[in-house]
Amino acid sequence: MVAPLKVGIAGLGTVGAEVVRLIEQQSRTLSSRCGRPVRVVAVTARSKAKKRGLDLHGIGWAKTPLELASDPSIDCFVELMGGAGEPALSAIETALKSGKSVVTANKALIAKHGLKLAKAAEQFGGALNFEAAVGAAIPIVKTLREGLAGTAINRVYGILNGTCNYILTRMEQEGLSFAECLKDAQRLGYAEANPSFDVDGHDTAQKLAILASLAFGTRVSQGAVYVEGISSIAPEDLRAAAELGYRVKLLGVAVRTAKGIEQRVHPTMVPKTSSIAQVMGVTNAVTIDGEGIPPITLVGPGAGGAATASAVVADIADVARGIRALPFGRPVEKLRAIEKAPMERHEGGYYIRLMARDLAGTAATIATRLAEQKISIESIVQRHADGVDAVQMAGKAAPVPVILITYATSEDAVYRALDAVQRDKVISGRPQVIRIEKN
Ligand code: HSE
Repeated sequence: MVAPLKVGIAGLGTVGAEVVRLIEQQSRTLSSRCGRPVRVVAVTARSKAKKRGLDLHGIGWAKTPLELASDPSIDCFVELMGGAGEPALSAIETALKSGKSVVTANKALIAKHGLKLAKAAEQFGGALNFEAAVGAAIPIVKTLREGLAGTAINRVYGILNGTCNYILTRMEQEGLSFAECLKDAQRLGYAEANPSFDVDGHDTAQKLAILASLAFGTRVSQGAVYVEGISSIAPEDLRAAAELGYRVKLLGVAVRTAKGIEQRVHPTMVPKTSSIAQVMGVTNAVTIDGEGIPPITLVGPGAGGAATASAVVADIADVARGIRALPFGRPVEKLRAIEKAPMERHEGGYYIRLMARDLAGTAATIATRLAEQKISIESIVQRHADGVDAVQMAGKAAPVPVILITYATSEDAVYRALDAVQRDKVISGRPQVIRIEKN
């Protein structure tokens, strides 16, 4: 019989425990798919005493992740502790330097130290697999790295954070506020311990930086990602979007442009008919626009123990089979520095919601300022002033919402026009601006 792949797992939280269970449950299938058995031989976690409902009988217990990483009796070190730094970083480096393969679900670590780790993997001959770091059970890393190795990729974009999609879905469907939906997401355990990581877009940015590297052969650079979260989105934006044939999603978009590679995370209006617009709740989805082929959209669970464990075990199976793809699909030294396209030169359609003075000439002023910047208006709607107290506003023209959709223009043109409108004093408050992404 072929020798089993001996696996050591660091971290026995929701995902780690599920990986141990899944390897046990699928042992026969794994053995036949990989041509050899896969066995968990050692683990480590912060607390040995914690009840996990796992049978760890016969499995060794290492005192620290480093001890496990340097244990000569394991072939594959699985890092499921999380965190962008220690102890995960040193443990993975140690495992790779001793010639072991590594599997991790750690998006923060891969976004920050992925290149250094990939270099160590190349040098010492081990695999570094991180399918679970992006979109959990959705095999997007493998799709970009291997499945589309022969296809030039022009754009990859998706819903990469379940918490944000859950919040936006409930806001749209039930007319609830952002704050109410966030509270529910926390109660249901979707949001990260610090919800700002989700709702301010940083979780999506880390995942996008990894996808962009795989798609475009560039060095992973989280710093090159423009990030805007969803906390400014109001139920009236979602209502207006729906009436205009759009839905608002927090998208991570990486796209090749004439000015370089744009990597951006922001609330985005997508046509209601697009595949990505159908994705509701905590589900994730990624669309890939490849040269010469229609878009490919992968949809599935992007978080949770079972979904993440599914990807981790698939990565372990690749190690057992002896498949060793270069972590970012190319040797690290061949990855190009990212040429960051400046956001102010971003081109696309825009949704703009203004609170405008309801007096003769206001619409004309707004239209003039847009025309000065050569911005063409696709549609313009003025609404009744919902909930504006007429008595409180007595003596002044009550502000009314004006919603504009523009044809493709540049971001700096939009902001120049809005600055001018603000100087004209025909609007109150800050305009709401949401970029439109066409499919
Ligand atoms: N907090 C993340 C989400 C978990 O909501 O999608 C997976 O990265």
